[in-house]
Amino acid sequence: MKKLLSFLLLALMVLGASTAFAGGNKIVIAHRGASGYLPEHTLEAKAAAYFMGADYLEQDLVMTKDDQLVVLHDHYLDRITDVMDKFPNRFRMVDGEKRWFAIDFTLAEIKTLNVTEGFTVKDGKKVQGFGARFPMFTSSFEVPTFEEELQLIQGLNKSTGKNVGIYPEIKAPWFHRAEGKDISLAALNMLKKYGYTTKGDKVYLQCFDPNETRRISKELLPKLGMNIKVVQLIAETSWNETMEKKNGKFVPYNYDWMFKKGAMQRIAEYADGIGPWKPMLVKDESTRNHLVITDMVKEAHANGIEVHPYTFRLDNGRIPAYAASFEDMLDIFYYTVDVDGVFTDYADRAVNFLRRAEYQRQGL
Ligand code: G3P
Ligand code: CA
Repeated sequence: MKKLLSFLLLALMVLGASTAFAGGNKIVIAHRGASGYLPEHTLEAKAAAYFMGADYLEQDLVMTKDDQLVVLHDHYLDRITDVMDKFPNRFRMVDGEKRWFAIDFTLAEIKTLNVTEGFTVKDGKKVQGFGARFPMFTSSFEVPTFEEELQLIQGLNKSTGKNVGIYPEIKAPWFHRAEGKDISLAALNMLKKYGYTTKGDKVYLQCFDPNETRRISKELLPKLGMNIKVVQLIAETSWNETMEKKNGKFVPYNYDWMFKKGAMQRIAEYADGIGPWKPMLVKDESTRNHLVITDMVKEAHANGIEVHPYTFRLDNGRIPAYAASFEDMLDIFYYTVDVDGVFTDYADRAVNFLRRAEYQRQGL
């Protein structure tokens, strides 16, 4: 019997079965796809993450000039495409820097761009951000639309018989609104078109902007007859991730309240989960023998909401000093801190980690 069970589990592993079975209820979210191996947010990176056995694939969403939703992390195009070479004059100046905003380009124009590993320009030269990852400007990749990606995932779900979920993020709703666009409404309409309408469907909708997350939950979802899971992402105020208009001027949204007692109760009024940065759960001053764990997970769980921290990477310098390895870091977060899932660029490693942990738990 034990042999048969082992065989069945091995077969599921080979077929790329969901970790939600093999890893108990803990999940793996492929951050921007299999972005440790292929350029982020390309359909190729999503297909790779799908077959690594991730439970959810992440989509960051921004809008084009002609109101199309594209899957891009930044609301500008210059970090991961050749836009500065193809459209040298189509930039805006932001804090003294040239930036090529997606919202200034039509989808047809964006489709002419080559997508690559992320880079910055130093002394006129493009320098790859993660040097050991897929080589910059090789092969051929493009920016996908949200719709193309939903079709890919639903197509794979049909051909494999699996049910891998999606984890879209509404990027910078304050910026889109200032440009006359309601990105949340557009994203929800697309989700509805593809059948993601209830909490039973495999979707989490995430956003850093608390005013917008609340609006989605309390206004837009009821208005559209939808009731999907919503996640409040948590940032440091200093990142300027969310801006709000005060006295006619954009100022950074102040996240301080989210780190105080009672915050999780407030968030639970409008969200099903939180997405904190790792150091918000385990402080950086932790050591291997003394982890400094905050109350965030405990309080979130006490208020019935899930916790999915970001971002788990194994690149140089990305594993905190208190963890001996990538897997040790996963062990700390999944089983000591007790998070419900993690966003990772290396879904394969997290899937295998959870499977091994579950086999051990079952004594296999
Ligand atoms: O959305 C969770 C995680 O992806 C947040 O970080 O900046 O990669 O979108 P970011
Ligand atoms: Ca994201």
